[in-house]
Amino acid sequence: MGNGDSGANHLLVVGCTVSPCLVNDILGRVSARDTDWDGVRLHVVTGKGGTGKTTVAAALALALAAGGRKVLLVEVEGRQGIAQLFDTPPLPYGERRVAVAADGGDVYALAIDTEEALIEYLEMFYNLKRAGKALSKLGVVDFVTTIAPGLRDVILTGKASEAVRRKNKDGSYVYDAVVMDAPPTGRITQFLNVNTEVAGLAKVGPIRNHADVVMSVIRSPQSAVHFVTLLEEMPVQEALDGIHHLGESGIPIGAVIVNMERSPVLLKGDLDAAAAGTLDLDQITHGIKAAGLEHDAERIAAVLAREAAYHAQRTALEAREKARLADLDGPRYELPLLADGMDLAGLYDLAQSLRNQGAA
Ligand SMILES: Nc1ncnc2c1ncn2[C@@H]1O[C@H](COP(=O)(O)OP(=O)(O)OP(=O)(O)O)[C@@H](O)[C@H]1O
Ligand SMILES: [Mg+2]
Repeated sequence: MGNGDSGANHLLVVGCTVSPCLVNDILGRVSARDTDWDGVRLHVVTGKGGTGKTTVAAALALALAAGGRKVLLVEVEGRQGIAQLFDTPPLPYGERRVAVAADGGDVYALAIDTEEALIEYLEMFYNLKRAGKALSKLGVVDFVTTIAPGLRDVILTGKASEAVRRKNKDGSYVYDAVVMDAPPTGRITQFLNVNTEVAGLAKVGPIRNHADVVMSVIRSPQSAVHFVTLLEEMPVQEALDGIHHLGESGIPIGAVIVNMERSPVLLKGDLDAAAAGTLDLDQITHGIKAAGLEHDAERIAAVLAREAAYHAQRTALEAREKARLADLDGPRYELPLLADGMDLAGLYDLAQSLRNQGAA
């Protein structure tokens, strides 16, 4: 699935006689919920700045929650992007239900406040609750996170991996999946590689142990890091570089999610002519006049031809960039540019599109 196809399930039965009942049974079970990420419980969403990480993470959370599941969407950069997207007041530091998914299912959100998380951390591991409060007043939290940025990242990734592992009394998981709206590609390898980050900071003790636990979640097959990109040179390059670096550090790579894809509005022949500047201006002028715009038809035709040339160049660029992604191993999903801008309805549409392509 993925790779931009419609997400149809494929079943290959090789040279054997199988009873129709058995085939139906297998097909029934396969098509019931055969997604690309069965077994993955931590989805980390990264990508170049502005490519749609927050939007795609939210859409993925909605997609994963559909059908009665419970998903936590975690924001680590303190920008309240999730609250804006779901049209809710700024999130306090706590897990709040922000949306109901298609066919039931809940999306909870958590905007991690680094200071609160650090205090919680000190309390949990060093029993330093009151000291933490005092530290906060003195601005020492800023100081600690500035001199030891690795500690800040361990706290952020630690919150997410704690939610991944958290269980109910009956032993079932509290969340079916956790989706993290993560830092951009340039920082992602360092951000997730908390072991290396704290290596110089703590060789033994609770921070070290904590980092080891976090790392064991992030490196496990329960995790996948997805890369959001636009079909433009820089975002694609960043995604390719990021996949390469992350792969080297042994962290599981997920999908490439092409966001804001435009569909061509001209046919292939017209696109070629527009790009080459050989569109038939007389014919366009004729068409404009036929549409009742007699006045200024030549000027309008020239403007349209320029627009068409721009569109053709853009389409060619998108095709080139898509070709650069073609050799990657994992699934690729494509999300359209929503012409009317993002709103809640659009977010649900993106979630449905992800489901149709097998992402959830
Ligand atoms: N498929 C889409 N169609 C239309 N608009 C989109 C789409 N995806 C994202 N956007 C818009 O693009 C802008 C950037 O999206 P978003 O904030 O999700 O990106 P980001 O990668 O999280 O950015 P940052 O690096 O600043 O955190 C937003 O205005 C968002 O509404
Ligand atoms: Mg964002």
